[in-house]
Amino acid sequence: MVQLLENPLRVGLQQERTPEPLVLVIFGASGDLTARKLVPAIYHLKQQRRLPAELTIVGVARRDWSHDYFRAQMREGIEQFSDGIGAEPLWENFAEGLFYCAGDIDNPDDYQKLNTLLSEIDQKRGTRGNRVFYLAVAPKFFPEAINQLGNAGMIKDPIKTRLVIEKPFGRDLASSQELNQVVQKVCNESQVYRIDHYLGKETVQNLLVLRFANAIFEPLWNRQFVDHIQITVAETVGVEDRAGYYESSGALRDMLQNHLMQLFCLTAMEPPNTMDADSLRNEKVKVIQSTHLADTRDLTFSAIRAQYGAGALKGKNVVGYRTEPNVNPESTVPTYVAMKFFVDNWRWQGVPFYLRTGKRMPKKVSEISIQFRDVPLTLFQSAAKQVSPNILALRIQPNEGISLRFEAKMPGADLRSRSVDMDFGYGKTFGVEGSDSYERLLLDCMLGDQTLFTRGDEVEAAWRVVTPALSLWDQPSDPTLIPHYQAGSWGPLEADIMMSRDRRQWRRL
Ligand code: BG6
Repeated sequence: MVQLLENPLRVGLQQERTPEPLVLVIFGASGDLTARKLVPAIYHLKQQRRLPAELTIVGVARRDWSHDYFRAQMREGIEQFSDGIGAEPLWENFAEGLFYCAGDIDNPDDYQKLNTLLSEIDQKRGTRGNRVFYLAVAPKFFPEAINQLGNAGMIKDPIKTRLVIEKPFGRDLASSQELNQVVQKVCNESQVYRIDHYLGKETVQNLLVLRFANAIFEPLWNRQFVDHIQITVAETVGVEDRAGYYESSGALRDMLQNHLMQLFCLTAMEPPNTMDADSLRNEKVKVIQSTHLADTRDLTFSAIRAQYGAGALKGKNVVGYRTEPNVNPESTVPTYVAMKFFVDNWRWQGVPFYLRTGKRMPKKVSEISIQFRDVPLTLFQSAAKQVSPNILALRIQPNEGISLRFEAKMPGADLRSRSVDMDFGYGKTFGVEGSDSYERLLLDCMLGDQTLFTRGDEVEAAWRVVTPALSLWDQPSDPTLIPHYQAGSWGPLEADIMMSRDRRQWRRL
């Protein structure tokens, strides 16, 4: 069990909304995530004056870089992956707070060296011993880094020190439990920020506002009115240059167990008492604990995996997964997963939730669609063969917004109906782009607000739901048996069959 402690700083910091001076220590500083996401996000926060002047970043990695070389790398990252440096004096001021410390994750001496540098920074820059340690390293290094930080006494202060852990948190239920134990040995749950960048998306947070700041949706949000729910996260990209990571992960570990599970939780959970971190997370845990694969004896009814083969996307030929660089030509790692869940509670009993995610699909699109029950009696002729059900579609990305599909009378003498969409677009309505997920989450972490981070028991519960599929798929299997789908298609036939058995179909996006 994960220990829950109240963080005394949280309430005060939340009101202030400007973090205390602190040092952000990034392990994995020479990696892609740091240059592409983390440092550009911090710089953008700086441009918006959301950060204290004392904020300092220390990059840690094995490479033998100097402070200046690290600064140049980060500048390049900001120029390449965000709106750029802007005013030169601002960059210079930011660069003065960038430091680098070469070190090995498993070398205790390097932690001592880092600790000395951090104390010097406290003296020079007034960071008052406040630290956020961000593990942007390969997941296999998490336990070592956490143990070493613990042994060096660097995360023992529950108020001044925090730990951010990237996903995936463990590879399965057992390893996530082990990792939680490692974490609990060295710090309190109140210091731990398990990051899932989907929770930083405006549209994902809007799901809470839609459900709980409006009176009209909640009465319909249950088994009495909802036929089923579909959650889709489709990507056009393939494995890119990430085979090293992806070959040990695959779509279930990389996407479904975390990002799609978060979308599922926010859609299915009960209203929390308050928006306080633990109230929200208690509800998420409760709903995951009531969730299971629709059929665990025969996975063809509830869990489909597949791999993309060669195909074409936007008029360009692309290779199949097994011929991508550094992928095992006999790999059985799935690049597509579809699952059917049931939730055993009063609200959702008998309502299927269909989740699917895949790479090399025709479009990049993430959507949650709530499909309502059919009308009890058809009174009008429809332009389609039959009256279409109402659908509330929450577009997570792109073209962020919400649309409600309903039937309307077609003009003319006949009483014929057709489906129409009532549409709300974020961009059109608010005229501004939402903030980047990492910006929001990094700021929350610096402020000590855990609401949008995953709690230890929640991660374990999410692994538990997908365990029947993982245990089967992790067994060595004949590589010819894993279903394929053509790159640029909407996934394997098996996933369509799973739906058609239920007399349903995947929504066309
Ligand atoms: C990451 C996965 O967590 O999310 C990637 O590791 C995936 O494989 C990415 O491409 C998708 O994120 P987004 O925000 O582009 O939908």
